[in-house]
Amino acid sequence: MIQRFSFGRPFPTGSVVETLPIATGDVPFLTPDESGWKLTLAEDAVVYGLGEMPRGINKRSWHYITNNTDESHHGEDKLSYYGAHNFLLIRNGLGGDCFGVFIDFPGKVYYDIGYSEHDVLRFHTEEPNYELYILTGKNEAAIAKAFRKLIGRSYIPPKWAFGLAQSRFGYKTEADVREIARQYRKNQLPLDMICMDIDYMQDYADFTVNKDRFPDLKKLSDDLKAQNIRLVPIIDAGIRINPNDKACQEGLEKGYFCKKADGKPFVAAVWPGKAYFADFLRPEVREWFGSWYHTLTDLGIEGFWNDMNEPALFYSPERLRELLDYAASLRNKDNIEHHEFFGFVGKVMKLMNSPEDYASFYHEVNGEKIRHDRVHNLYGGNMTRAASEAFDRLRPGKRTLLYSRSSFIGSHRYGGIWLGDNHSSWAQLLANIQLMPNVQMCGFLYAGADLCGFDGDTTSDLALRWLEFGLFTPLMRNHSSSGTRDQEYFRFTKELPAFRKMLELRYALLPYLYSEFMKAALESTPYFRPLAFDYPDDSDARTVEDQLLLGEGLMVAPVYTQNAVGRHVYLPESMKLLRLRSVEDYDEEILPAGHHYLPCALNEVLLFIRPGCIVPVAAPAECTAQLDEEHLTLWSNLSAGQKAVYRMYTDDGETKTYEKAENWRMVE
Ligand code: GLC
Repeated sequence: MIQRFSFGRPFPTGSVVETLPIATGDVPFLTPDESGWKLTLAEDAVVYGLGEMPRGINKRSWHYITNNTDESHHGEDKLSYYGAHNFLLIRNGLGGDCFGVFIDFPGKVYYDIGYSEHDVLRFHTEEPNYELYILTGKNEAAIAKAFRKLIGRSYIPPKWAFGLAQSRFGYKTEADVREIARQYRKNQLPLDMICMDIDYMQDYADFTVNKDRFPDLKKLSDDLKAQNIRLVPIIDAGIRINPNDKACQEGLEKGYFCKKADGKPFVAAVWPGKAYFADFLRPEVREWFGSWYHTLTDLGIEGFWNDMNEPALFYSPERLRELLDYAASLRNKDNIEHHEFFGFVGKVMKLMNSPEDYASFYHEVNGEKIRHDRVHNLYGGNMTRAASEAFDRLRPGKRTLLYSRSSFIGSHRYGGIWLGDNHSSWAQLLANIQLMPNVQMCGFLYAGADLCGFDGDTTSDLALRWLEFGLFTPLMRNHSSSGTRDQEYFRFTKELPAFRKMLELRYALLPYLYSEFMKAALESTPYFRPLAFDYPDDSDARTVEDQLLLGEGLMVAPVYTQNAVGRHVYLPESMKLLRLRSVEDYDEEILPAGHHYLPCALNEVLLFIRPGCIVPVAAPAECTAQLDEEHLTLWSNLSAGQKAVYRMYTDDGETKTYEKAENWRMVE
């Protein structure tokens, strides 16, 4: 059951697709608190959800703010990341109440989940205008499913988007891109996409191409497509200010950029220097901005990533001026005192993504001026919506790859997400494992983190261990920042065979992974989920933070610590362990339920098949187009004489005829 409560004058966010009647009685489970709601938590209560947020699968013992933030330092001390996913799934102790809470609000929501007081959960919205949904059901899985139905079907990318994407902030020329493709094919490492970061643009201006460095992007795209490799260019939220730029000119003439109180367009600097920001909350602006993607779809481009759309602001000219004036006032001082020095440093630190800047510009919603910070979390997701709706016009009936950095619940219907600028560290590999079930619970099925890590220098063992988890994530992209150590998989020459085998394993598992993804999207079921979803009465399963169930039949238990040669694994029931070195080379063993320490060498993956389950496996392929889904091997965990069938999903992978009955095939 879902109950909808409404308070004040809620802003229509577009998060839900079902219009429920507004309930009149008391809100169940929660009690009113000063400015919000509170709940007393049982000692063993578990709180799932919040999507893209710091810390573990269980959000208890920390505080959070949904406030979409360009956060370049991911870590335990943070309160916000790039997405606003205000859904909590609470199990208040073993055998206790189990319910979901969705706070439909476009601004900041503050959560204190046992941070101030270990046994108290509190939350409140920044303004008293919001809708509150309370979901009840049999267990965690039932509630998660009801929530997904409430918010509508998750975005489905083309099938090739389940292949490997190679990316780097630093592919500066056509030759760089061709070389990446050549190396992957030469080294027989499967690959389906190469992402193009901002260097392909002219002066980092959206919808332009630098003709010196990419003289014929259409030819490049065609040539690579002939090798089954798609180019996936980036589009940033900010439009470079340049009187000769058509998008800039047009947006200005039409009055489509966000404005300051005085009616002048708001200006802040991002990668291209000073930029304007389209008012994505207006339908006509979404339509206009989206249409610009034709400049690239006309060249044969079929996929995009939308970035910097919180929106990230490096600085506003006003704030930078203040800083420079302050610096000038210190220039001739013989002794700059500590408070002046730290005052200066403080001003530098506060330049980026400043709350004052977010409070200094406005959107126009149905003729009303709304200050940006009040609806901040809707911005990036509406950029995704702009692009997605444009693709329906530009490429009717076809699927287009789209993933975004910023998002809110609702934008999961228009695109996937990647998990932003992580770091090449073991902690971030664990964070990737823990983020996946929570973002998927909030509708973002097509998701993944920058494999090997974005900032900082990776190492071959971290890259390999990360791939051993990444090979299960729907978006599998290796991406890194400029100035970091090269981390394309072919760079690790000594370990190349191990990387190749892990990439091959991904492709071999695609009949299963793609089918499970499609089931999750079409039937509102989970892809990744915490163990407690399927074993709600198992007190040990509830505490597991580093193993995930994956689709109907698998459990993964990645190794995520440096120099580890094995790990502890908890089995809620007996399962078959496959210790895989490649799709052909593995040991298998039936393990009893309980706690195990399992050896796992650097080139091995621990994969568990649940009882009664079948996993269809294809021969390795160099790209998704070459997957042979007719000749399958079946991995299974069946007892003697037991029969089972696997519901496999196969389609053209390109069109949107998802619902056709013939897309399902019974494999046994
Ligand atoms: C942002 C993105 C990152 C990208 C960089 C340059 O930091 O999160 O993925 O490489 O901008 O465009």
